[in-house]
Amino acid sequence: MDRTRRLRKSEVLRSMVREEHIRTDELIYPVFVMEGNNIASPVPSMPGICQYSLDRVMEEIDRTVELGIPAILLFGIPEHKDEVGSGAYAVDGIVPQAIRLIKDKYPELIIIADVCLCEYTSHGHCGLICDGEILNDETLPLLAKASVVYAKAGADIIAPSDMMDKRVAAIREALDAEGLVNTPIMAYSAKFASGYYGPFRDAAHSAPGFGDRNTYQMDPANGREALREVAQDLEEGADLIIAKPAMAYMDVIKDISNNFNVPIVAYNVSGEYAMVKAAAANGWIDEKKIVMENMVGLKRAGAKMVITYHALDVARWLREDK
Ligand code: PBG
Ligand code: ZN
Repeated sequence: MDRTRRLRKSEVLRSMVREEHIRTDELIYPVFVMEGNNIASPVPSMPGICQYSLDRVMEEIDRTVELGIPAILLFGIPEHKDEVGSGAYAVDGIVPQAIRLIKDKYPELIIIADVCLCEYTSHGHCGLICDGEILNDETLPLLAKASVVYAKAGADIIAPSDMMDKRVAAIREALDAEGLVNTPIMAYSAKFASGYYGPFRDAAHSAPGFGDRNTYQMDPANGREALREVAQDLEEGADLIIAKPAMAYMDVIKDISNNFNVPIVAYNVSGEYAMVKAAAANGWIDEKKIVMENMVGLKRAGAKMVITYHALDVARWLREDK
């Protein structure tokens, strides 16, 4: 008779038959860098996460590297915003400066540069605007320009998060034209227009000034459409695929994993982080248990890597439990 409990008898046995694991080298930690001096400013809706000026960011990078986390995802917060998001592709912008600084100390650390305009535009949208419309094709050269600037500054991977059509092709072409043929693109392919990005927009000062992102990010109801987005991005030259948010979209991760042979990156986003932190702060849940369950859940769904604000804690817990 089949008795599944036989293999649950002891931790040793359970550990032998355990199907999925999360490892430190599968974690990617998002970092916010900001113009200014002596800033390590906590983000209220994301306990434990700060915005850092360049003279303080190394504190956080040191911790990250010390814990064995292999990669960071960089977001920039500029001092000046304008209509066309100039700060995103300025050669001396906050992100290229941060890349050079961090690479200088830690050449081995993988720096993934998020590419988008919303942190840099006065209107807070991810593309150029004309008469209230978010322009697609006109935005592409700017995303391509930013990608080249970041890659030349030393970024290891370029991660476009804007959701304009054809941006992966535009970025690939621009990188190749500059001889950066070996710089991979990690495309935010299945990116849904989600309420879960709220705390991030506090952290990155990137909330849209009018309207919403529904004409470029995906409708949360559309799992099948996500497969079209992934297919397009792969055809355009994406090397890695991001699905986000993660927890409410595990079916999408599973579907991508069943249909495409490409490493999938789950982005466990700011709102997901905030909910866990809030419940934990109230003593309503066991934070470590919940976070580790979420991590292994994402692996089970088919993610190869996880971008998460919990990365330092996860790495610490994995080290403790070894
Ligand atoms: C910007 C961007 C966003 C996130 C990553 N890049 C926010 C948005 O699209 O409004 C969300 C990350 C998070 O919530 O943790 N394009
Ligand atoms: Zn954006």
